[in-house]
Amino acid sequence: AIEEDEKLSQATKELLLSLPREKGWRTPYVYLFQGFWCQPHEIQAIITFQKHFQAKDSDVLVATVPKSGTTWLKALTFATVNRHHFSSFTKNHPLLTFNPHDLVPFFEYTVYAQNDDKVPDLSDMHEPRIFGTHVPFASLPSSIKEANCKVIYICRNPFDTFLSSWIFIKKIKPGSLPALQLEEAFEMYCRGVIGFGPFWTHMLGYWKESIERPNKVLFLMYEDLKEDVTLQLKRVAEFLDCPFTLEEESSGVIDDIIKLCSFEKMKELEINKYGTFARNFENKYLFRKGEVGDSVNYLSPSMAEKLTKVIKEKLDGSGLSF
Ligand code: A3P
Repeated sequence: AIEEDEKLSQATKELLLSLPREKGWRTPYVYLFQGFWCQPHEIQAIITFQKHFQAKDSDVLVATVPKSGTTWLKALTFATVNRHHFSSFTKNHPLLTFNPHDLVPFFEYTVYAQNDDKVPDLSDMHEPRIFGTHVPFASLPSSIKEANCKVIYICRNPFDTFLSSWIFIKKIKPGSLPALQLEEAFEMYCRGVIGFGPFWTHMLGYWKESIERPNKVLFLMYEDLKEDVTLQLKRVAEFLDCPFTLEEESSGVIDDIIKLCSFEKMKELEINKYGTFARNFENKYLFRKGEVGDSVNYLSPSMAEKLTKVIKEKLDGSGLSF
């Protein structure tokens, strides 16, 4: 049966009937919409987003592959862009009392999650507005592509992204659905069947754009942030035309931002220990280990070999590798 969900409009339900579908990770089905796999509610929200969103030149977009460091990059971007407004990083900073996803809302889960008849008025939001999205570059509304707004993208090595996704979804999946076994999830991932996947199409879309328009799209990787977050944060600030000054650097602003947004700090905040994201899941699930390479503890050698092959084949010749 098709999704019997009263929050879906008639038009969405009709559209779903026409789309290829497969078993989903945390919904009965995911649908192939505009070339990527997507859950019914997200499809509806993305259509509203595409129809109504008007970008401003000052907008900043944090675009990510799910489970690639979205929460971290949103926090770093928010703290950097608003550092003159919120200049204490230890007292009264919004990141101490709000989860990064509340401060940098997703288009598809938050901003446009209501029905089409309740389109939000975003015109008087504090500027620069910062939004988050998992939508592939090709499906962003043309107003984002045409305006001078900036897009910061992050992805992560597919082995760890897969593992982080599998563990996260196991925790937040509705109890009414049977658990997705690691092997089955892995097989789906390698075929590209995961929310906003295939992962290679997602990465390549932003990768190509970052090469063609380096002032428009900044391409980051989780592993690079883990290795040298200072260097990457400076790149972010320069890209957003708000580079850190020498005075800021010597007075410790960069270090303060990094500390505020660190895994250890964020994980221990009350809001992240006990709060919930859009009443859907507990914030604590967003903070698991925050390490590079944990997937070796879960993937068998033959699984690792298979995914290595998929990555090689799909990214071959692009200049992008893991
Ligand atoms: P693990 O599951 O490997 O621990 P997203 O924010 O896109 O959902 O990504 C979640 C991943 O980022 C999780 O990885 C999570 O632990 C890690 N993460 C969350 N906050 C982080 C932070 N401040 N610094 C580094 N990693 C963080």
